[in-house]
Amino acid sequence: MTDVITERGDITRVTTDAIVNAANEALASGGGVDGAIHAAAGPQLIEACRSIPEVRAGVRCPTGEARITPGFELPARYIIHAVGPRYSMDRAPELLESAFVWSLAIASDHDDIRSVALPAISCGIYGYPVDEAAEIARIAVDGRVYDLDVIRFVLFSEKALTVFSEAFTR
Ligand code: APR
Repeated sequence: MTDVITERGDITRVTTDAIVNAANEALASGGGVDGAIHAAAGPQLIEACRSIPEVRAGVRCPTGEARITPGFELPARYIIHAVGPRYSMDRAPELLESAFVWSLAIASDHDDIRSVALPAISCGIYGYPVDEAAEIARIAVDGRVYDLDVIRFVLFSEKALTVFSEAFTR
């Protein structure tokens, strides 16, 4: 049985075994939570991202997938870099669900990851409405079994926390 928690906070400070990053396909450091994670993890993180093989030119992690690196200077031992869709993309709901599921599946597959924290993937620069994303996150979690003790959604704003909390109590 996996506990699911919603809380407000800064994911770079969370002490779960792994945290999830809202990354881009190049796994090149961007703004938002990605920039905050790179700043907190230190310069080894970008080197680790560059060592992940490209699947095609400029793409280390296609939209809807995820890749794992160490956490370096973060409290979390691992970072799972998930790439959500821009809201305007074709099949955006399916791709966002896939980004959540890939992240949680990678965490489940690692014996030394029992707890994972996720942000509201795609809800910043990529423009996804938080209420729609929260419902997709709920489906990604409730519709599957993960080998994890706890999944924490760490939301940056009070509004996002309210919306995610409502989705997970429906
Ligand atoms: N902790 C938790 N959540 C955070 C933090 C933080 N420190 N900083 C930002 N957030 C929240 C935002 O408020 C938003 O709700 O993370 C959510 C995702 O926003 P973005 O970081 O903008 O991610 P996304 O919309 O998926 O866009 C990804 O932005 O940073 C670039 O390289 C990244 O190109 C990619 C794109």
